[in-house]
Amino acid sequence: MSEKKPKVLFIAPAQSSKTTHMILEEAKKEFDCSLVPIYELTIGMNKGKIKIMHKGRELKGYDYIFPRIDSKRAEYGFDIISAFDYTGVKKPYHAKTIRIAHDKFLTGLVLSKEGIPVPKTYLAKTKEALRDISRQIKFPAMIKLLSGSGGRGIIYVEDINALESIMSSFEILGQHIIVQEFVESGGKDLRVLVAGDTIIGAMKRIAKNGEKRANICVGGTGERYVPGDEIKELSIKTAKALDTRLCAVDIIESSKGPVVLEANINFGIQGISKATDANIAKKIVEFIADELKIK
Ligand SMILES: Nc1ncnc2c1ncn2[C@@H]1O[C@H](COP(=O)(O)OP(=O)(O)O)[C@@H](O)[C@H]1O
Ligand SMILES: [Mg+2]
Repeated sequence: MSEKKPKVLFIAPAQSSKTTHMILEEAKKEFDCSLVPIYELTIGMNKGKIKIMHKGRELKGYDYIFPRIDSKRAEYGFDIISAFDYTGVKKPYHAKTIRIAHDKFLTGLVLSKEGIPVPKTYLAKTKEALRDISRQIKFPAMIKLLSGSGGRGIIYVEDINALESIMSSFEILGQHIIVQEFVESGGKDLRVLVAGDTIIGAMKRIAKNGEKRANICVGGTGERYVPGDEIKELSIKTAKALDTRLCAVDIIESSKGPVVLEANINFGIQGISKATDANIAKKIVEFIADELKIK
């Protein structure tokens, strides 16, 4: 008699990414997998019972949920994963991690509270409020929208004039921002993939000429990187602080030591697979298999 394969449910945008497909294809070798578009999920609640449905049919009997929730779908994702939190099914993180990890300000707060070094950061809503604190801000600086990824919504500013002029535009859009001290690193940063209590891959990213952001999507290049104990421990501590078993931690090595920029719960694996010449998708599947063994 053949052993029954664990059932794994992938929840992703309708147009799922290359990363989702890479992991799904690998996962199909080990598990009985299904993929559902997140906006096709509905939740019902009645008399203390919570019903998670896909196209009106209750989703039941899954051993693991693998969410792929980007910042655009973070709100609906939060509600859906909140419902899964009630079911007790295994997954890499609880709903609250979505709120925190998709918000660079909240991420900073949580990490600071856990004693993890982050760049000096200020939250502000108006140009006037920024002017009030401008003497405390050291330039150059990075302006960041709170949610976003791939370097989008991150702007380098040389001085207060540039900061105010950009802030005017964000104010019109009703958007608040964070201003972060620019940490000099020669355009390089580190990306470390944490799975459970281990590191399954790491790369150094180098920004293209004239660019401050090292993200691969904006022209950065990745190369293999073997993290030492300090970077490994910092990455795992970051994942733990955000209460996620799986994430990609972005770190800058400053002259005063490493600082954590953010942790991505919806990280891509194409760049890091290429840079490390490793099957990262397979490593993620092995991680899920190990998680399923934990009682
Ligand atoms: N405070 C900072 N100092 C120096 N470089 C930064 C700083 N913040 C961000 N960067 C650069 O910009 C990139 C994108 O920033 P990050 O906060 O990770 O946002 P995103 O979600 O867009 O990846 C980083 O990978 C890094 O290269
Ligand atoms: Mg990043």
